[in-house]
Amino acid sequence: MPRILTALQPSGILHIGNLFGAIEPMVKLQVDDNENLLFIVDYHAITVPQEPAELRRNILFATATYLAAGIDPEKTILFQQSRVSEHTELAWILNCLVHMGELERMTQYKDKARGKGESVSVGLFDYPVLMAADILLYDTNVVPVGEDQKQHVELARDLAERFNSRFGETFVVPQPQIRKEGARIMGLDDPEKKMSKSASSEKNYISLMDDEKAVLKKIKAAVTDSGSTISYEQTRPGLANLLTIYSLVTGKPTDQIVNEYEGEGYGDFKVGLAGAVSAYLAPIQEKINGYLQDEPKLLAILETGAARAQAIAAKKMELVRQKIGVKL
Ligand code: ADP
Ligand code: TRP
Repeated sequence: MPRILTALQPSGILHIGNLFGAIEPMVKLQVDDNENLLFIVDYHAITVPQEPAELRRNILFATATYLAAGIDPEKTILFQQSRVSEHTELAWILNCLVHMGELERMTQYKDKARGKGESVSVGLFDYPVLMAADILLYDTNVVPVGEDQKQHVELARDLAERFNSRFGETFVVPQPQIRKEGARIMGLDDPEKKMSKSASSEKNYISLMDDEKAVLKKIKAAVTDSGSTISYEQTRPGLANLLTIYSLVTGKPTDQIVNEYEGEGYGDFKVGLAGAVSAYLAPIQEKINGYLQDEPKLLAILETGAARAQAIAAKKMELVRQKIGVKL
C-alpha cells in the first residue's frame, strides 16, 4: 500500500488557497488503497517566534479545519508532530549526516534568514532536517507538497540514500508529488502572486473564517482589469483568478460561468461570486466551530492519531539505533 504523507504548519489563518491547494487534495487521497498521514508541524512552527497561547489555539484550529474539510481520522492518521518524539530524535541523527552546505543552499532558509544576520535561529537553519525526519520515519512513498517544498523533499531523498549506503537499506526514498498549478489561487489584490496569509494586506486573501460581509467586501475590492465583459483569458489574470475560485466553490466549469454572465458586468459577477464563496464556506465554518467547542473530542482524535503514528515511528527508530550501532 503506498504510504502518502504530508504536513502543515499550524497558523491562525487558513485561506481558500490552503483549502484548495493543500487540504482538499489530501481529502481526495483518502482512498482505500492508500495509507495516509497528515500532521501539524508545531515544532517547525517554533523555528520563528510563537506566542504560546496562540500556538495552542492554532494547533486546535488547524485540527478542526482539517476535520471540517473532510479529513477522516479513520482513514488518515491525523496527529501533532510534537507528540511523536521520534521526529526530533531522528532529526538529530540526520543532523550528523547532513552537510552545512546543503542547508545553506535551501532557498526557503535563504529567504527567511535574509536581513537577520547572525541572529537567525539554528532551528530555522535545521528546519529541512526535521522535515526529512518527518518523512523518512514512516517509509513514505509519496509526499504531496507545493512547489516551494520540493527542494526539502529532495534533501530527504538525499539523506535517505546517504544513510542507506552508509548503514545498509533502512529508509524508503520518497517521491515528491508537486501539486498542479490549477489549484493555485492568486492574491485578490495582486493576481500575479499567490494568495498568502503573509501578504501585506488582508484584502489579499479570503480566510476560511471570513463572514459574508468580509467576503463581499474583499471580492468587491479584488483587482480586475480594464475590460468590461466576463471571459477567461490569461491576459486578464485578476478575472481568471476570480473565475477559478468561482469554479472551485460551485463545481461548475469556467465556460459555464462565463456563459451565465454573458452581457453582464463585473458588479453582478462579483456579487454572485461572493455569494457562492460564502455558501461554500458556511457549512465548513459551522463544522470548524462545532469542533472548537468540543475540545475533548479534538484532543481525543489527536491522541489516537499520535498513538498510531508512534507505533510506526518507534519501530523505525529501533532499526535506526541498531544500524548506527547504539543499540546494545
Ligand atoms: P501561506 O503562503 O498562506 O503562508 P503556506 O506556505 O503555509 O501558505 O502553505 C500551506 C500549504 O498551502 C502549502 O502546501 C501550499 O502549497 C498551499 N498553498 C498556500 N497558498 C496557496 C495558494 N495561494 N494556492 C494554492 N495552494 C496554496
Ligand atoms: N515544510 C512544509 C511546509 O511549510 C511542512 C512540512 C513539515 C512537511 N514536514 C513535512 C510537508 C513533511 C510534507 C512532509 O509546507
